[in-house]
Formats: sequence, structure tokens, C-alpha cells
Amino acid sequence: MTISPSPARLLPGAPVAEAVLASVTARARVLRERGTVPSLATILVGDDDASAGYIRIKQRRAAALGFRSPHVHLPADTTQQQLHDAIRALNDDPDVHGVLVQHPLPAHLDHGAALEIVAPDKDVDGMHPVNLGRLAAGLPAPTPCTPAGIEALLDHYDIPVRGRHVVVLGRGATLGRPLSILLSQKRETADAAVTVVHTGVPDWGAHTRAADILVAAAGVPGIVRPEHVRPGGVVIGGGVRYDGRRLLPDVDESCAGTAGAITPRVGGVGPTTVAMLFRNTIDAAEAMAAGA
Ligand SMILES: NC(=O)c1ccc[n+]([C@@H]2O[C@H](COP(=O)([O-])OP(=O)(O)OC[C@H]3O[C@@H](n4cnc5c(N)ncnc54)[C@H](OP(=O)(O)O)[C@@H]3O)[C@@H](O)[C@H]2O)c1
Repeated sequence: MTISPSPARLLPGAPVAEAVLASVTARARVLRERGTVPSLATILVGDDDASAGYIRIKQRRAAALGFRSPHVHLPADTTQQQLHDAIRALNDDPDVHGVLVQHPLPAHLDHGAALEIVAPDKDVDGMHPVNLGRLAAGLPAPTPCTPAGIEALLDHYDIPVRGRHVVVLGRGATLGRPLSILLSQKRETADAAVTVVHTGVPDWGAHTRAADILVAAAGVPGIVRPEHVRPGGVVIGGGVRYDGRRLLPDVDESCAGTAGAITPRVGGVGPTTVAMLFRNTIDAAEAMAAGA
């Protein structure tokens, strides 16, 4: 008789996002009563269907939360200068509290350069170099949304992080690098021993197999397989690639037979990322309303 391994506990993102957004809703109500309507502005360049779909999701969510969501749609042949002008107009608009430049941009545009134009206090993605620098220095700053969502998810499911060994596969600016900084900070829901592995560490599996918590942040479909997971360990799938609208996660589904807890293939880290975008926006709106 073969005994199949017991399946891992699933860690869906939706309940985490709901808890975060319940607090955002309450804070938005208080701000509106005081005359400030929180506002998240989006900029889309070109006609990428998937990007337009993500903007619609954010706008629907904004409406449900009582936020305004002004949208700027620029043509695909927009120049870098025109994009920067559009960002500056939103920076200068006192009724806008957060500015999000939807990526990917058309190939002729530089997303990093555009990010630097966003006013740091309206950078609700937490990706402006000033804010990443503040994060590294341990100063208050909007936290990049996906890393913040992962910390919230671990906290929501009472998965201890303090003193545990977290291994992050990937050192990208969006996810792996800021997450490694965040989870190593001296805070109640962090305080971990963090190892970051990447293509410079050919035998990265030797590290991930020793992880209490493994976070996949590579963007390479199926790169994390059961042999990379410590039996009973926690696996968080952050990295994804899209084939059209089809989502291809870093974590192979078979890892659920080895891990003790794992994010689902769909609906894990994604919903928490969106929730953190609105949390950063309400933080920015409150700070601006208070004249900070
Ligand atoms: N779920 C969400 O809501 C959400 C939100 C944001 C981002 N993401 C996803 O997160 C992923 C990471 O994004 P990012 O911008 O932070 O990273 P990135 O800049 O795309 O970098 C990927 C990282 O993975 C490493 N890597 C790639 N292939 C590898 C391999 N075969 N072996 C070992 N390491 C490898 C790279 O190593 P080197 O540095 O050595 O090249 C790099 O550090 C992407 O898939 C992105 O789509 C998801």
C-alpha cells in the first residue's frame, strides 16, 4: 500500500486582503467625513488588454472602497517626455494621493525612469528609489506592495517569522530584494534570518531545502519543485509569468505534497498585493490631509 503525503494547508490571499481592506474602508470613511476623498490615479500607455483589465479591477475595487480613481490613458506612441508630463500633472494635483504607472510599458519607454518622476509621497507602489532607500534605512516609507502582502499573509495565518530561516529565490527590485529587507527588520512580524538566492548561486536548492519559509520570486514557471522544499516547510509563491492571460507560477503544484503550508496556484499573493496598494494610498491620503 502506498501512503500519499498529506496535502499542505492552503494559504489563500483573499481573507488576508479582506481584513486589510476592511480597515482601509473604515479609514476612507473617516477621511471622507473630514472632506477628503482618497484618490488613486492610474496611467496606462497603449492598449495592452491584460493591463487594461488590471486597471479595471483596481477601479472597481477603488469604487467599492469609496476612493476616486482618475485614469489617464495615453496612446501607444507616447514619448517618455509626454509620460513624464502626465505623471507630473498628477503629482501636482492636490486631489490625487497615489499615482500608479501600470506596467509593462511599451518597449520604447523606460519604466524605471518614469518611476523616478512619481512624487515619493504619492509612490503607493513603494518602488521609487527614495522609498526603497528609506526602507533599507529602516525609515517610514510606503512598503512595496507584494512584499508587504507576503508579510501580512504570514501574520494572518499565524506563521511565525521571528527567528526563522526565510529563503527568498530571486533578488529583483519588485519582490525578492525588498522582501529580504522587510523580513529581516526588527519588528514583531519580521525579525527573520533571511537568505537570498539567485542565478549566482547554482546550488540554490541546498539553501531552499533548509528554509522554514521559502518564497519563490524568480518569475520562472515551475522552477520550485518538491526537491527544493523542506518537508513540512512553508512555501509562498510570489513569482509568476503570464502567457497571454494564463498565469504560470514559479511553484510547481506538486510542492503541495511536500510543504506543510503553501499558497494556492491562483489567489495567493495577488489579492494581498492589491490590498496593500490601497493601504499605501490611504496612508498617503491621511498624511496629505494632515498636511504632512
Ligand atoms: N503576485 C504578484 O502580485 C506579483 C507582484 C509583483 C511581482 N510579481 C512577480 O515576482 C517575480 C519577481 O519580480 P522582480 O521584478 O522582483 O524580479 P526580476 O527582476 O524579474 O528578477 C528575478 C530574480 O529571479 C532570479 N532568477 C531567475 N531565474 C533564476 C534561476 N533559474 N535560478 C535562480 N534564480 C533565478 C534572478 O536572478 P539574477 O538576479 O541572478 O538574474 C532575479 O534575481 C516576477 O515573476 C513578477 O511577475 C508578482
